[in-house]
Amino acid sequence: MALQKSILSRIVALHLVAVIVAAVLLRFVLHWSLASDIATLQLNTMAAQIEIFARHLEPASRGGWSLHLPDGVRDQYSDAYDRYSYAIIDDAGKVIFSSHASKQPLFAIDPDATGIVPYRARTPRGARTIAGASARKDIDGHPVWIQVAEKLSHRDVIVDDVLANFLRQVVWIIVPVLLLLLVADTIIFRLAMRPLHRASDRAKHISPTRLDVRLPTDDMPPEILPLVKAVNQALDRLELGFRSQREFAADAAHELRTPLAILRTRIETLPHSEASRALGRDVENMSRVVSQLLDATELETAVVDPESVADLHEVGVEIAEFIAPLALKRGKSIELIGVDEPVLIVGNAEMIRRATRNLVENALHHTPEGTTIEIVVGQDGSISVIDNGDGVPPENRESIFKRFWRQSTRASGGAGLGLSIVKKIVEAHHGSITVEDAPGRGARFIMRFPLLLA
Ligand SMILES: Nc1ncnc2c1ncn2[C@@H]1O[C@H](COP(=O)(O)OP(=O)(O)OP(=O)(O)O)[C@@H](O)[C@H]1O
Ligand SMILES: [Mg+2]
Repeated sequence: MALQKSILSRIVALHLVAVIVAAVLLRFVLHWSLASDIATLQLNTMAAQIEIFARHLEPASRGGWSLHLPDGVRDQYSDAYDRYSYAIIDDAGKVIFSSHASKQPLFAIDPDATGIVPYRARTPRGARTIAGASARKDIDGHPVWIQVAEKLSHRDVIVDDVLANFLRQVVWIIVPVLLLLLVADTIIFRLAMRPLHRASDRAKHISPTRLDVRLPTDDMPPEILPLVKAVNQALDRLELGFRSQREFAADAAHELRTPLAILRTRIETLPHSEASRALGRDVENMSRVVSQLLDATELETAVVDPESVADLHEVGVEIAEFIAPLALKRGKSIELIGVDEPVLIVGNAEMIRRATRNLVENALHHTPEGTTIEIVVGQDGSISVIDNGDGVPPENRESIFKRFWRQSTRASGGAGLGLSIVKKIVEAHHGSITVEDAPGRGARFIMRFPLLLA
């Protein structure tokens, strides 16, 4: 499985690689620059030495040469010391003075070269580097080549020492600075990501009932802005499609009402018979399905005004009065129990009436004759409907709230929309609905709403 790497962790990882590469490169660049500085310095020193030799070299009267070196210089170039050496070569290629007894040139000379010529080589044993320089000098009209050389083992050690010291200091300064930059990177990145977090917070509010929400584009980094705009445009198109679909369902349900009403009146004019009564019941059922469908589509976009207040006690009274005739007709009775004073909640009374009516209608549907349906209004902001039916088995207690779900496929007359409508209503109120067994009785449906805080 590929690792899900966050952008931040990638930045940190790349930054660490950069730190390591920079540290390694720094070591080489510093070494090179220090070594080349020292080489230049040394060449200058050797050029100065050559000048000293030239200054103390004189043609002797007998056709030879004389060299009177100051004591300090002579000691420095003494064979015993072995670090510095020199050779002076005349026009004929003969070594006229040398720090070595062997009287050999220190290295081959280039007769055509002008100015100072640097030289580098390994000692015959290869352990050390020899750095040298030669220059052609005209002493009273006689050309000579002056060579000086130094064995560098000491100098290498010094360079390495200096470099190691220097690097140690640099590491103590550069590495914390680079790591500090890493922390700064992280903070900058977090700040840059803020508009994105705001956008995702906003996106959480997008739902079928809130399709008007759009992601904010303020402060959005230009790299991400096109994505945010594209998402917003996609939401525009979705909203349009969603709305037209919903309007279609609502329009269809609405359009069906008139022909159904006409049908009902026509059936009423038919001579009374078993067939006409059956037709009447069918039309009633159909009208109910259509009105449930209309309620369901309407509720899709229902939002409860947080300022609205409903009295649950009043809702209970109204529903009990409204349903009582129907219940009586079916040989059942309705009872309103619980508190006898207003129970105020944040909510829409009309919506809660619809929900309660659905619960009571279901109870009427699922109970035998001669039983009582109780509507209980609780001080805690709840309305319960209790019946004497078969109850709802635990395995169905989730499914019953789904659209078009019915216990049996046998024509119950309903569409299976009632409880989904009830659920939509309590959700729009940020409330809850549960079903349980009423001890010794049938089902108990409990709706809970947020109380209005005084
Ligand atoms: N009080 C109850 N006792 C037992 N079962 C119930 C009760 N209320 C609902 N049910 C079960 O839940 C199912 C779904 O109920 P719902 O109200 O959603 O649909 P419906 O009553 O069949 O149709 P509609 O309400 O749309 O006319 C019912 O068909 C029934 O099986
Ligand atoms: Mg129902």
